[in-house]
Amino acid sequence: DYSKPFHNSPGTDWSLRRNAHWIDEKINSLKAVKQDIIPLKIGRDTIITGNLGKGMDPSRNVQIYQYSLADAHHVQKSLDIAEKAQPVWEARSIEERSKIVKDVAIEIEKCRGASIATMAMDAGKAAAESDAEVSEAVDFANYYADSLSWDGMLDGSEFKALGIVVITPPWNFPFAIPCGGILASLMAGNAVIIKPAPESVLTAWVMAKQLWDAGVPRDVLQFLPCPDDEVGQSLVSSDRVGAVVLTGAYETGRMFQGWKPDMRLYAETSGKNSLIITNAADPDQAVKDLVRGSFGHSGQKCSASSLAIIEADVYDNPAFMRQLKDAVESLTVGQSWEPSSIVTPLMIKPEASLERALTSLDEGEKWLVEPTMLENNPQLWSPGVKLGVKRGSWFHKTECFGPVLGLIRADDLRDAMAIQNDSDFGLTGGIHTLDDREIRVWREQVEVGNAYINRPITGAIVQRQPFGGWKKSCFGPGAKAGGPNYVSIFATWEQVEMPM
Ligand code: ALA
Repeated sequence: DYSKPFHNSPGTDWSLRRNAHWIDEKINSLKAVKQDIIPLKIGRDTIITGNLGKGMDPSRNVQIYQYSLADAHHVQKSLDIAEKAQPVWEARSIEERSKIVKDVAIEIEKCRGASIATMAMDAGKAAAESDAEVSEAVDFANYYADSLSWDGMLDGSEFKALGIVVITPPWNFPFAIPCGGILASLMAGNAVIIKPAPESVLTAWVMAKQLWDAGVPRDVLQFLPCPDDEVGQSLVSSDRVGAVVLTGAYETGRMFQGWKPDMRLYAETSGKNSLIITNAADPDQAVKDLVRGSFGHSGQKCSASSLAIIEADVYDNPAFMRQLKDAVESLTVGQSWEPSSIVTPLMIKPEASLERALTSLDEGEKWLVEPTMLENNPQLWSPGVKLGVKRGSWFHKTECFGPVLGLIRADDLRDAMAIQNDSDFGLTGGIHTLDDREIRVWREQVEVGNAYINRPITGAIVQRQPFGGWKKSCFGPGAKAGGPNYVSIFATWEQVEMPM
């Protein structure tokens, strides 16, 4: 029932000194405890396996915990349990499921500080970024909880769950993204198995515990880190699984489909997102929003602005470029647990594409701000901005996933839109202009899932900006997370014919 007013979780006010202290204390107490080995949770069983993965703190590049990895037998066992538990869960009334999911929202809110501290250590996230993730998870819970009418009917059809849903989340949003997928699946009456991202198992574990503590049954949500080999494949491609949710690279989506061509795959994959700045933009606002969208979480958001396509008069204006340069150079680079940090260490060592983007220029390109490696740590880079990126060039086309922004000069709005749409991907995109006619033309033609006007292109808000892509940024029907159709993709509709 989406007719009720919806209120987003407001998050923490970081301008208050006491809130920075609060998180400082949480982080220090988390640093002080030695983490136990994270187990698998298969039904009620807590299993420490012989095959252990390493959990790293990317800021210091040190191991801070270990986690258990499942084998093929664990996968089959957890599928057995999920199969048994699912019909019982589905038989519970929608009202009951909704109550549990609302309790999840309360529990997540209660544990906000601990979750932020966990992400500072485990996911390289600055507090303000993790805080937004916690808020998004709370919002997903409250929003999906009200997603179904109590009688389980839609247009005279009966609502049926798909069965078992496997969630394979990313490391860059290790809390909110899996949480949203889990809760939508649960609301629709499915059992869920989460296979956390190997880079951020602790965060997923902390999140899963909050869900169990709030009343999600342990056989309905199971926790199963798997190696990315035939074990992971046996889970993802099992015929006993009704749907797989992936957030990750396009190639991973293709790989999943290769394993099982008829898989019901809901995936949000890759992007090369850009923000257009026209001659009619407010330059102050444009610089602020561009910098935030490009360098928040060090550019490691699928939604990040990796390109700015700038109309000639603005591009050629030295005052604009100076302002952008100043803004980028004044971003504080530091460890994720320091309250002032905006650009934090990269979660993983730069892959070849990011390495190339950070360390080299193609023909015609120049640095406006040259990125540098800091503290001799290949995962800590100050942000960079490239001038003179050409349409059709390598940087125009390639997702790099890090703190580097490229600027492309456009002749006019038409040219800018052609450059923006000249992409295999279509996740987010934006425009900065105060001209209503430009906004109208752009809205009609932009080929992205999330189109933003005069705002950063990251940080979608549940219910207000349902999130998801098109083109190669999306597999499946394209229903958006945090939007009105999302829960329904985890169900099928059965038309029941009554005798006359
Ligand atoms: N939902 C995330 C964002 O909008 C990815 O930035």
